[in-house]
Amino acid sequence: MGRVEKVEIIIRNIISSLQMAKLYSSAHPIFKNSLTKAYESLRSILEDMTELIIGIIGNELAFEKEIFFELSRMAEPMIAYLKERGIERIVFHSGLQEQELEKFIAFLSEYPQDTGKDPQEILTSLGIRNISAGKIKVGSSKAEAEALRGTAQIINYLDLYNNYQGNVSQSIENVLDNETVDYLALRLGVTSIMENLILRHQELLKLATIKRYDLNTFVHIVNVSILAMYFSSKLGFSRDNVLTIGIAGLFHDIGKLYISRKIIGKQDKLTGEEFEKIKNHALLGAEILLKYVNAMGILPAVVAFEHHLKYDLSGYPRLAFAQKPHIASLIISICDVYDALSQRRSYKSEYPPNRIYDFMIKEKGRYFDPVLLERFFKITGVWPIGTIVLLSDSRVAVVRQENEEEIFCPKVEVIHPADRQELIDLRQQKESLKIERALNPFTEAKPYLALI
Ligand SMILES: [Fe+2]
Ligand SMILES: [Fe+2]
Repeated sequence: MGRVEKVEIIIRNIISSLQMAKLYSSAHPIFKNSLTKAYESLRSILEDMTELIIGIIGNELAFEKEIFFELSRMAEPMIAYLKERGIERIVFHSGLQEQELEKFIAFLSEYPQDTGKDPQEILTSLGIRNISAGKIKVGSSKAEAEALRGTAQIINYLDLYNNYQGNVSQSIENVLDNETVDYLALRLGVTSIMENLILRHQELLKLATIKRYDLNTFVHIVNVSILAMYFSSKLGFSRDNVLTIGIAGLFHDIGKLYISRKIIGKQDKLTGEEFEKIKNHALLGAEILLKYVNAMGILPAVVAFEHHLKYDLSGYPRLAFAQKPHIASLIISICDVYDALSQRRSYKSEYPPNRIYDFMIKEKGRYFDPVLLERFFKITGVWPIGTIVLLSDSRVAVVRQENEEEIFCPKVEVIHPADRQELIDLRQQKESLKIERALNPFTEAKPYLALI
């Protein structure tokens, strides 16, 4: 085998180890195996060369004069990670230890904390001596580089949301057609959303708020999954559990999609039996998902079955015996109702966020688990992040951050009029300033949409 082929194998091994690091904990045997494989391949080449230099050229990985175009798609995430950290060149030195490679992979797979810091310094501070990484030089000034990075990030979140929607709709279509689901791809998509939610939740929650006005079928599903992951991560669930809840959220209404697809194709009026069927979507969804237990585990089926059961079991399907719903079902039913009511707002403008709050709080202890519901509104606030609101002094602002202690008084940023823009913590001005009402971003608040 020639050197170029060997290097190609090394790159493949590093990429797959990076993927495994995203999916499993560092102690997991699947990750350990992939790490050892990557390390062994590196060590064998470093026996006859003192260093191996891999570079990024455009959007491709390169070694000596060889550009690995065939690896393009596979290497895409890795190249994105490297670029985010300002790395255009990695050098592996011959004394490389497996532990150093493990730390390097962890560094690449974690969310970049110190953007703008020299990657070489970070590697040194992590105790990685036998891997060096060079910084990319963007534009001429540092300010320019920062600006470029900022723009790239904004585009990324919308892309991230849209890609997620695409990825998810594909998996759902497959289930509806009784085909196999590419579970690894799905899990990877959910993971990237989860990580961004944990570290930069504002951007994604803002998109969820805005996207509710888009009546695409998958918006509700994607939003429920995003909300449920954010909520459960704030409740302190482990990464693995958050991920599993996110996947369950995606499939909670699969039964409804199945039925509506059949009924939509029908010309005549719906029969009573068909209405009854829609109500049965919970049971049907569970039946469909039971076929995917091997790929996705049991939780999606459990949640599909229980998400309309209600906390006091007064919902459906009727149970022959009393059994408390799974906590994932209780979490998802809160997110489900919350998003469905918010989506309703898009065509019934008389359904503002504070009314949704009142409605849901009335159901505390009946539809919803009381403790979870209180926590939910502490975390998401009454006025969700990204909502465009009218303040009592008739300025227009956008909600930026929730105050857990004062759920009616978030931090807002005034966006209109232009000469009175500022950031305000409404908790500190409770007596003089409050939120009057929410504005529909596609009608009355349309002129301000670009400003949020
Ligand atoms: Fe449902
Ligand atoms: Fe739903």
